[in-house]
Amino acid sequence: MNGSYSGMVAVSQAMAEVQRKIDLYAPLDTYVLILGETGTGKELVSREIHARSGRKEYRFEALNTGALPRELVESELFGYEQGAFTGATSRKVGYYELADNGTLFLDEIGNMPPETQVKLLRILDEGVFRRIGGVIDRQANVRIISATNNPDIYNAANFRNDLLYRLSVAVIEIPPLRERMDDITPIVNSFLRRWNERNGPEKTLNSHGLRLLTEYDYPGNVRELQNILERACVESPERTINPEVVQRILQEQKRHITHGKDVTAAQVTGLGYTESKRRFALNYMRELFESSGGNLFVAAKRLMDKVSSEEISRDLGYESLEQMIGGMKIEYKPTMLAEPATKTKHQGRRSRITDDELMRAIRQHGSFSKAAGELGVVGSAIDYRIKKMGYKGRKDFRKRAL
Ligand SMILES: Nc1ncnc2c1ncn2[C@@H]1O[C@H](COP(=O)(O)OP(=O)(O)OP(=O)(O)O)[C@@H](O)[C@H]1O
Ligand SMILES: [Mg+2]
Repeated sequence: MNGSYSGMVAVSQAMAEVQRKIDLYAPLDTYVLILGETGTGKELVSREIHARSGRKEYRFEALNTGALPRELVESELFGYEQGAFTGATSRKVGYYELADNGTLFLDEIGNMPPETQVKLLRILDEGVFRRIGGVIDRQANVRIISATNNPDIYNAANFRNDLLYRLSVAVIEIPPLRERMDDITPIVNSFLRRWNERNGPEKTLNSHGLRLLTEYDYPGNVRELQNILERACVESPERTINPEVVQRILQEQKRHITHGKDVTAAQVTGLGYTESKRRFALNYMRELFESSGGNLFVAAKRLMDKVSSEEISRDLGYESLEQMIGGMKIEYKPTMLAEPATKTKHQGRRSRITDDELMRAIRQHGSFSKAAGELGVVGSAIDYRIKKMGYKGRKDFRKRAL
């Protein structure tokens, strides 16, 4: 190990490898992409890289572009001149400029708006940027470290590959805590040391309490472990933390969690609402597709009464359904948009029925379900179409169109 790591616990083999990479990349001044689930320590690692680099005397600025409203991203990143837009009463220096000679940490790049991606790429290519509303080309010498919790970022339809390649000259992957259980005890010890320094009476955890902690899988990773420990300290008045309290907290955590993987209540993991919603929707759709044999038509039949697939894809940040499927990287991709084999007549026509076609079919058959059968679409696809045409529903359509 090269020097001491400020508060970063790395006892497991996996974290030793992370440390090795930090030491390797820190002085090289290359851009680094950090991959890891929420709470694994991506920001901590990026601060370590900065602290060990030739830029350490300059600023480390962190910006989560995905958590900002779209309109704010660019003004936060690149700043603006006075009068650039309504409300710009004075000039503002953006994070990119603030990080001149230092490091800019871009958190959750997977959610960066597409326009910002284009702009950032151009700036990296040309080496100059402008504040919004500005006419002067400015230069800043910035090392960008970016992070994402999307392990499929390389296949994500909503992130530009050309930008990703620029940002990921070096890559550090932080494994989830459940894959490096050796780190749990030292993290607990380091937490308790800090707690006791700040709060006086020495808290300890006995082996029973510790064993309980090693039997949990931490979807919220180190942050979740810290939250659990903090609660245990607060809720257990005795000097030795009561294992029953630990047990109860762990049970509550589990109750918050859907599918046991990475959908956790916002409070548990510290995720924002937007990210929690995105993850929930993503997992929901995965489950739905998987339990529908990976077939969109089957999935749509079970879902579309409530919400259109277009809406879902937009919710997840994709421009279209096809993009979403690509972005979700579902294995059985080729069959996604085809109808099940039993309906061979009009394969995959759902998204292509025209209003005229629909009108003619309904008029001809006098029945929505027969029209759907003829056109080879599910009934709810007809409802969707009808609504798009401005009718409230089937009744309204019958009344006004037939
Ligand atoms: N190896 C570690 N040793 C000690 N503390 C750690 C370690 N890894 C993470 N932490 C602590 O866990 C918390 C979460 O870390 P951090 O914010 O860096 O995670 P993150 O991966 O950026 O999370 P998110 O994806 O939610 O933004 C912080 O309080 C951090 O100090
Ligand atoms: Mg973070």
